[in-house]
Amino acid sequence: MKQNKSAQDFPRDLPDWPQQNLRGHRLEGYRYTSREFAEQEWENIWTKVWLLLGREDEMPNPGDWQQEEVGRESILMVRQAGGSIKAFYNVCQHRGQRLVSEEKGHVRRFVCPYHSWAWNTDGTLDFVQDPNDFPEGNPCGKLLLEEVRCEAFAGFIWINMDSDCVSLQEYLGPVWDDWAVYGIEKWKRYVAKTTIAPVNWKVVMDNFNESYHVNTVHRPTGADVEKLRIHSGVDTSYTTTRFDMADEGHARMIMLGGYGGPAIDKTGVIGEPLAGILREWELDPADFAGRGEDTREALQKARRQHGPNRGYDYFNHLNDSQLTDAYHYTLFPNFAVSLWVDGFHFLRARPHPTDPERCIFDNWWYAPAPAAATEPVRTTAGLVERDATVEHEVFEAGTQSMGLTIDQDMAIFPAQQMGMRSQGYRGSYLSGQESRVSRLHELIDDYIAGEKF
Ligand code: FES
Ligand SMILES: [Fe+2]
Repeated sequence: MKQNKSAQDFPRDLPDWPQQNLRGHRLEGYRYTSREFAEQEWENIWTKVWLLLGREDEMPNPGDWQQEEVGRESILMVRQAGGSIKAFYNVCQHRGQRLVSEEKGHVRRFVCPYHSWAWNTDGTLDFVQDPNDFPEGNPCGKLLLEEVRCEAFAGFIWINMDSDCVSLQEYLGPVWDDWAVYGIEKWKRYVAKTTIAPVNWKVVMDNFNESYHVNTVHRPTGADVEKLRIHSGVDTSYTTTRFDMADEGHARMIMLGGYGGPAIDKTGVIGEPLAGILREWELDPADFAGRGEDTREALQKARRQHGPNRGYDYFNHLNDSQLTDAYHYTLFPNFAVSLWVDGFHFLRARPHPTDPERCIFDNWWYAPAPAAATEPVRTTAGLVERDATVEHEVFEAGTQSMGLTIDQDMAIFPAQQMGMRSQGYRGSYLSGQESRVSRLHELIDDYIAGEKF
């Protein structure tokens, strides 16, 4: 469904995605609470689709490994002697012990903590105790770790538990082309926060599939900015926002001039963070008092002119809109990305191993490193030093901040999850601008019915 696009606002070189006809059914509460529904999702979706799980630069050398969980499974990714990456189920073929429990590490062989079977990084079995004591014969040379398909794109490792799946490129469809020009594989992680959220994974993903909540949940609280529809140049109105939905199930939303955070007050004075961004690009915020919308074009010109000298060579491959606007992608089923000219806001909701009313929610930020070491990097956690090392933080929801905007979203989630349990809830009644929510759920139903890929 396409909505009120003002075509002249978008460069011609960004191809339209195809039109989708939505069925528009009501989304009832059981989808978010039922164990049976979660089991159907596991059987028909999580074990059938490409899932983003790891990062290539976390494993630079042979023997480096990384482990991530999705639902009841744990996937072990390991750099091979020849430089490629293989993925395996993290399970010993002796009696089912998980081989590793940490997030990442380096090994010569994976030695099982139960009976010390030693697995090579290519999945072959190198050593067992008492090899002559097995009635079926020595398992070495016979047993293998169970391999999972994996491919890399944008520096991330994607896995698919279905060995008959389509290629990752085919699965990502037009997202592949959109992202390929940025060189995201070279970007560095500057924020990594993971929380255990007391909600179904779709509560999180529904939220990132609509911006209808933005004016309520993310409304600036200062009196001067409260009445402004436009915050920091982000025009949150659906009438000027472009929505696209790909056949493959992914969605794209483009908001004009999105720089993040409230910035322009009632009198038209440009405040932070937009003022700081303008100064970073040698523009004076005072010149734009009363005409905040003009900052979009001015920033496009400044970035076009100065970007490549500052280490942002890929600006040459971006169109003008991509230099300033908010490009928000939701990849089926569980990955949302706000792709800014200088940042990749990574949002992912993974199902909990056993509880449909909990999920694992990640909020990470990747950014290109500026050429100058003194130039800070703008992130959801504020300005960060270019060469900062960022550790992954994992915590229960509410015990630490996920960043202001995400905290505002998360403050809403638990009470919505409670509402999903109410016998008084008759199911959703969605607006046009929430069509990506419909699309997510229709695809879920299609996968469960065995009608996708
Ligand atoms: S379960 Fe791994 S060695 Fe026994
Ligand atoms: Fe939000």
